[in-house]
Amino acid sequence: MPPRLNVFALPQFADPKELVDGVVVVIDVLRASTTIIYALEAGANEVIPCREVAEARSIAQDFFPEEVVLGGERDGVHIEGFDLGNSPEEYEPHLVGGKTIVFTTTNGTQALLHAKNAKQIYIGAFVNVSAVVQKLLGEDKIHLLCAGTEGQFSEDDILFAGMLTERLSRQGGMPYELNAQAITAREMWLHQFALPQALGAEPLEPERLAKQLQQSLGGKNLMALGLEDDILAAAHVDDFAIDDERMPMRVHSRRFGAFVVALAVEFFDVQILRVAVERGKSPSHVLIVAGDDEREARQRDAGSVEAGRAVRTRRI
Ligand code: MLT
Repeated sequence: MPPRLNVFALPQFADPKELVDGVVVVIDVLRASTTIIYALEAGANEVIPCREVAEARSIAQDFFPEEVVLGGERDGVHIEGFDLGNSPEEYEPHLVGGKTIVFTTTNGTQALLHAKNAKQIYIGAFVNVSAVVQKLLGEDKIHLLCAGTEGQFSEDDILFAGMLTERLSRQGGMPYELNAQAITAREMWLHQFALPQALGAEPLEPERLAKQLQQSLGGKNLMALGLEDDILAAAHVDDFAIDDERMPMRVHSRRFGAFVVALAVEFFDVQILRVAVERGKSPSHVLIVAGDDEREARQRDAGSVEAGRAVRTRRI
């Protein structure tokens, strides 16, 4: 059986039950995925995604003030009383290093929680594409879950899903069985970027990708808020080098090259095993714990997570 690769252009297209035995990449290029990756790159210990603002405030109160940063947005705007908004570059090492980020956004964290029963979740965005590809190679059931923007498709997410589909199809060694949305996303990526490059167009520069992202629904919202720089921050793709005459194949990370920045949100009880396995393989990959018993129980009592499932996101 060939491995399966599904794209879901919106979370509601994916039945959570369908995600359970697969690996899910949660994609909200503008901006939640990108911001989570920036935060962890800046040295944050972990990100706890929350559905509601009140829930985020309540979870943050479980920490000493110096251990926690409240971050996120509603309608794209900084939430009153929160430490940080949803701009990737706000998450600077001196503000978030060593801290827990309690994070809530309009669409991205909702998509993340939609996938919480998956075997494994990675956070995907242009800034960590190579790391995500590396993590996905060899997986036989992959779901790329786009957050969209308030129930509508957002082309930034679909474009990235198309890039990932294309990269996996080229590097995966055997053809994936793609759903219709994956085929469409891949066509969109090829049409806009890969084929022009193969035909000798300029390499994919952040400014060029940012221009395209500005046209997406999420991009238009950010432009209206004067947040153009956030779009550029999200458009720093791994550098492409042309390995053969036809297509970009070899990738090396320009801004995030020193790290593996794929992230995991893990179910607590499988976590310990995975930490051990990963550490055995490579001391530089630290795979992440989802929650601790006490917190999980308290959250469950408070009704803030369903059925004993606590999620945290950390760098692996
Ligand atoms: C979201 O999660 O809804 C987005 O990140 C929206 C935004 O860009 O602020």
